[in-house]
Amino acid sequence: MLFQNRTAVITGAAGRIGRAAAKALGKQGVKLFLTDINMDALQEFVRELAADNITAFAVMMDVTSPESIRRAAAEIIQQAGKVDILVNNAGSWPHKGVLDTDDELWDATLELNLSSVFRVTKAFLPSMLEQGYGRIINLGSIAGVVGLPGFFAYSVSKSGVQMMTKVMAMELAKKGITVNSISPGMISDTIKDNNGTWLGRSGLGEDIARAIVYLASDNASYVTGSDMAVDGGRTLGPLNPGFKG
Ligand SMILES: NC(=O)c1ccc[n+]([C@@H]2O[C@H](COP(=O)([O-])OP(=O)(O)OC[C@H]3O[C@@H](n4cnc5c(N)ncnc54)[C@H](O)[C@@H]3O)[C@@H](O)[C@H]2O)c1
Repeated sequence: MLFQNRTAVITGAAGRIGRAAAKALGKQGVKLFLTDINMDALQEFVRELAADNITAFAVMMDVTSPESIRRAAAEIIQQAGKVDILVNNAGSWPHKGVLDTDDELWDATLELNLSSVFRVTKAFLPSMLEQGYGRIINLGSIAGVVGLPGFFAYSVSKSGVQMMTKVMAMELAKKGITVNSISPGMISDTIKDNNGTWLGRSGLGEDIARAIVYLASDNASYVTGSDMAVDGGRTLGPLNPGFKG
């Protein structure tokens, strides 16, 4: 067993990557507290997990609302007793370049993708500090590594997530808490051709879930502050047309 008596919280758990992460951790016996704003989708997913013999609890948490985070964290800690693993996954990617990004969109994107990671992590840190153990996994993006034109605020927000990961990792290292990020490339529900990657295709939620399981487990006990690219090689050097490998 990779995990013994571990509890995980996942934000944005009704979405593509959140669901895959929940299934993968649940199959390893991790007790799950799944959060989202879309409670209908989340409840339906929890029923789906139950049919697979995976127990999960659905809790409403809007990661852009400090009050909602506070309420959800209190409920989860009261019910779970402790939280070992936190997956900061909720996010969205508005398709707007700098010229089309207004103040409102800028603020909303940074709130949802970046400030939320700070606030949700702060809400669960006391439980991790108390037990001297924690695994925090933040969802970055290739957009935060090399930038994605046309996704201006998104790219900036995800580069912030990567730096937050590093500084938190340094500050929390001696407290038994590791902090890492994963930077997915294009993830879709079915594999699609994607000539922007060296592997020539898109990835699935399951590809990201396997990286989450690794970083959440004690196999990764010597890994902190890292950003794991799971992107089919998208952030390697550009594809050169002459190469026929
Ligand atoms: N899908 C990709 O290609 C891809 C690529 C790189 C990075 N990512 C990152 O991975 C993460 C998950 O992506 P996904 O593809 O599963 O997205 P998704 O849209 O399928 O799921 C996102 C989930 O977040 C929830 N959510 C939205 N606003 C929320 C809020 N205020 N509070 C709580 N939950 C909220 C949504 O209801 C949804 O269930 C995101 O951070 C995204 O930026 C995704």
